[in-house]
Amino acid sequence: MTQRRKKYWYLFFLALPVATLIVGLMLQPEEQPALTDGFDPSVPAPLYLQQALVAVLNGDRLEAIHEVDHFMFFARERDAARAEVIMTLLEEENLEQAAEQLVSMIGPSAAFLTTITADTVEHGREVFVNNGCGACHGENAEGTDIAPALPGHTIEQVKRQVRAPVGNMPVFTNEQISNSELDALTAYIVTLQGSHVHPGVDVRDQMMRHYWLFFGAIAEGDIDEAIHHIEKVGTFVSGQHLDRVEEILATLEAGDVDTAVMLVGNALAGVDPPNEPRSDLYLRQTLAALNNRDIEEAIFEINNFIELSSGQQRADGETVRDLLENDLLEDASIILTNMLR
Ligand code: HEC
Repeated sequence: MTQRRKKYWYLFFLALPVATLIVGLMLQPEEQPALTDGFDPSVPAPLYLQQALVAVLNGDRLEAIHEVDHFMFFARERDAARAEVIMTLLEEENLEQAAEQLVSMIGPSAAFLTTITADTVEHGREVFVNNGCGACHGENAEGTDIAPALPGHTIEQVKRQVRAPVGNMPVFTNEQISNSELDALTAYIVTLQGSHVHPGVDVRDQMMRHYWLFFGAIAEGDIDEAIHHIEKVGTFVSGQHLDRVEEILATLEAGDVDTAVMLVGNALAGVDPPNEPRSDLYLRQTLAALNNRDIEEAIFEINNFIELSSGQQRADGETVRDLLENDLLEDASIILTNMLR
């Protein structure tokens, strides 16, 4: 990777104050089959790492080994080597260092897991009850006819769904659930026992990447690109979340960029930014758009990648663009997949 940006450039925007938002319900977006064979960037690999970390923190070394083993099955090449190191640490019964390595692989969002106590989980349970999550998800998050069971979700899945939901679920702002309450709530959910493993759902990842790329575009002063990403978020959501997206768009179109940034910052309060460089986010958006057969969007995203890149990465990006322009979609998909490995 030639041009790695500072990883946490988005954090600045997230430290913004609160705005009040509106109530409503949402519909489920359609999920598209993947075009890529074998390697699927939306597999729930992070979930295995997270479950390994929870197991390590519970002192359950064998369960941790089991989870890391699963992870290695799905992991991209560059992650597999790090997972090997963790495996060795687990085999040597060095749980403390294994936990450290797991946190660094999952990203800073996982650090709070290492601070979980019985009190945190109990507090999280109260946040769950007081906000009526159980009304839809069941008293013990076991799932109902209207909403899924909650064991087996990643930290990211929980946080983003609370703040920026897809499907038929209301938005919970940080006035309703503060960022520290969100941490406790997340701790409660990710430590729930249960066999349900949530599949990686690429549409949600795609929606969130558009939000993060919005901040990148703003940081570069590219308002048109920023508008593009928010418009795309709007294609994934409905109800309350869509109302908010429309408000953000109206502010952007009126030229009030500061307010738009504040609104998005509020909307994502307490949600951790991705643990990967912006150029990779563009590659993932290109691949996702290609899987959805939205070639115009794929070309838009690869052009953004090319602008950020140099050397071999840039050359590969240009190859992908040529292939897309000539409708050689399979070939484009293979190169993109390799670029993400
Ligand atoms: C009005 C009903 C309702 C309430 C209240 C509700 N949810 Fe949900 N929730 C849903 C539905 C429906 C889905 C499935 C959305 C989909 O997959 O389209 C969902 C999905 C989720 C998911 C899975 C997200 C994913 O990426 O798969 C999590 C986590 C979640 N809810 C947590 C919560 C928490 C925490 C609360 C309370 C703060 C809560 N929900 C309150 C209806 C609700």
